[in-house]
Amino acid sequence: MSISSKPIAVFDSGFGGISVLKKLLNILPNENYIYLGDNHNIPYGDKSKEEITQLSIKILDFLIKQNCKMAVIACNTITASSYDVLKEKYNIPIIEIISNGVEDIIDNTKNNNISIMATEFTVHSNMYYDKILDYNDKIKVTQVACQKLCPMIENNWYSYDDRILVLEEYVKKIDDNSDTLLLACTHYPFIIDDIKSVVNRKKANIKNIIDPSTKIALSIKKYLIDNNLLNTSGGKLKFFTTGNKKDFNDFVSRYIKINYELERIVL
Ligand code: DGL
Repeated sequence: MSISSKPIAVFDSGFGGISVLKKLLNILPNENYIYLGDNHNIPYGDKSKEEITQLSIKILDFLIKQNCKMAVIACNTITASSYDVLKEKYNIPIIEIISNGVEDIIDNTKNNNISIMATEFTVHSNMYYDKILDYNDKIKVTQVACQKLCPMIENNWYSYDDRILVLEEYVKKIDDNSDTLLLACTHYPFIIDDIKSVVNRKKANIKNIIDPSTKIALSIKKYLIDNNLLNTSGGKLKFFTTGNKKDFNDFVSRYIKINYELERIVL
């Protein structure tokens, strides 16, 4: 098997990374993909750095055994906690989402006042905050930890009657003068319509709500082209979940319209 025909591995604590995978399937339809969702252990956002790193090492050990050509951390929380360790430990290229989110936000703000919605872990790591200020220390960054969102999205957001109230509590904390809001958890794009309607009602100054999945998909395309790793004859997709196969199928079939395989694994 040539290197270019090996699969790209995409992973997340659960369904969130499927927002990135969807963009990859649009932008790079001729690649082969494997996706691992650690749905059994979600949420990662409430865990310690040590726990998240141990789980991500198990994930990458598994994905490398599947013979992938590169790995995509489609999870802000894993990036914030463990990217440095993973990058040192493994020889394959690893692409992470946070630097793409940072570039997206810098490209979009006009008034240098931005807000970020993310998990507890991502907010407390300050990785976004530090990286944005490294670019431009005049930018005002407000971070909102949205503890309830990821578990609710994972368990069918639309089944919660109080979902708009929950969102309003978080949106209230966005700076009134921010012109740009970054969705810094890959689960949030699945509820972007609800986020947009609450934000439009409550925060008139927000002009852009950013989902960094297009940016990371384009970075991956560039990386493959620059390194002569582009596949022109793939198109296969296989999912691995540590959770329940039926729940996984129910979620995925709403968003992914090509044929795929699905296997349940224990990490
Ligand atoms: N999709 C993950 C992220 O981007 C969710 C983390 C979690 O499991 O809490 O941060």
